[in-house]
Amino acid sequence: LAADAFQQRLLTWFDRHGRHDLPWQSPRTAYRVWVSEIMLQQTQVATVIDYFERFMARFPTLESLARAPVDEVLHLWTGLGYYARARNLHKAAIEAFDAHGELPTDSVESLMALPGIGRSTAGAIIAQSTGQRAAILDGNVKRTLTRLHAIPGWPGKPSVERRLWALAEYYTPAHRLADYTQAMMDFGATLCRRSRPDCDICPFEDVCAGYAEGEPQRYPESKPK
Ligand code: ADE
Repeated sequence: LAADAFQQRLLTWFDRHGRHDLPWQSPRTAYRVWVSEIMLQQTQVATVIDYFERFMARFPTLESLARAPVDEVLHLWTGLGYYARARNLHKAAIEAFDAHGELPTDSVESLMALPGIGRSTAGAIIAQSTGQRAAILDGNVKRTLTRLHAIPGWPGKPSVERRLWALAEYYTPAHRLADYTQAMMDFGATLCRRSRPDCDICPFEDVCAGYAEGEPQRYPESKPK
């Protein structure tokens, strides 16, 4: 599928069915998007919303987070789990504030230099907060792309992951980066679900190789033992 056709179909789907009222979507600052992305790494949107609002009420700026005692950060994280995320968030706030006075959003690489920010999270922050062209490849996107292209193999395998990143880059548009990024996440989470994907109402049904094979749920394949 041509990249522009993919983008057009996805964005049309997003305009009708995507999430448009998430708290980190307005105002969409790098700091707010970053905190939301870290919370969303292992936790669902519905759970994150309340934690995000409380976090922003207490730590409205990067500086306020950088200057806070780590115990207070951990306290606001209570119930979200995976507390290394909160420790890394705090550490990254101190590093970024000391070095730049703000989150460095000039490039994916400068964000990736901070603890807790991998390539996909860096791309998600840049695309959503600055509109620069940057690709994402989280679990939702891996699922969508492995099905669309019927890509065999475990997505954690380096050769498969390289192929998926190349596709993720290929489909990423030059415009509407924030919408496109949110659309990819929403599409994987709500339509191209792990089990029982909604192929009947999918805008890619006619071009999906996984669907054509008859069993899109067999993608992505799991880690070999
Ligand atoms: N998972 C990671 N980032 C997300 C986002 N912005 N919306 C929904 N799910 C996500």
